[in-house]
Amino acid sequence: MCMRNLLIGSLLIFPAFIQAQDSPTLGKPVSEKVVKKWNGDIFPNGEGLPIGKGTAMYGKKVYQQYCLSCHGNDGTGASADELAGAQHGLKDNPPDKTIGTYWPYATTLFDFTRRAMPLDKPNTLTTNQLYAVTAYLLHLNGIIKENEIMNEKTLPLVKMPNRDGFIKVHTGL
Ligand code: HEC
Repeated sequence: MCMRNLLIGSLLIFPAFIQAQDSPTLGKPVSEKVVKKWNGDIFPNGEGLPIGKGTAMYGKKVYQQYCLSCHGNDGTGASADELAGAQHGLKDNPPDKTIGTYWPYATTLFDFTRRAMPLDKPNTLTTNQLYAVTAYLLHLNGIIKENEIMNEKTLPLVKMPNRDGFIKVHTGL
């Protein structure tokens, strides 16, 4: 093979080699621990709830530290949604869709808070902090008492005011 062909050949191979070295970082395998941390669905009947407990009294402290900056004093809303203190019912125009007026299950509050809040650091609160802040929000909405203990057994028993406000629509599919 003449020198010229050799050179062209190596030029064709070389960029491919460089590219392989510089390939974008395509990620790394997800560990079991990380999958377990994020794969934690909680069902309306409480299935999936972790063991732990908390009351609104402690939850108020958790709220003030991790939630107040966006959701305002006593959940009345700031840059983010109001979480309590609805001024209007669902039949008013416009309606106030808060935890107290709208959400059908208390367990969803635990699940949503764990997976999505605080917005800038989701899934960082401990289980007890989550039960406590859930209790606090339920208390702010007038649904449970300040000293009622929320845990994996009591939380699913909380009857939300709008539990029966959702209807099943049969689409025939
Ligand atoms: C950095 C700002 C920020 C912080 C801190 C924060 N949130 Fe939120 N939160 C939001 C925003 C923005 C939304 C609306 C998100 C959406 O609609 O997808 C929201 C939505 C929610 C909702 C759903 C409200 C509804 O009725 O749809 C709940 C419940 C909630 N946050 C709870 C909490 C709790 C509890 C904490 C503290 C542990 C917290 N948030 C901290 C910004 C924040």
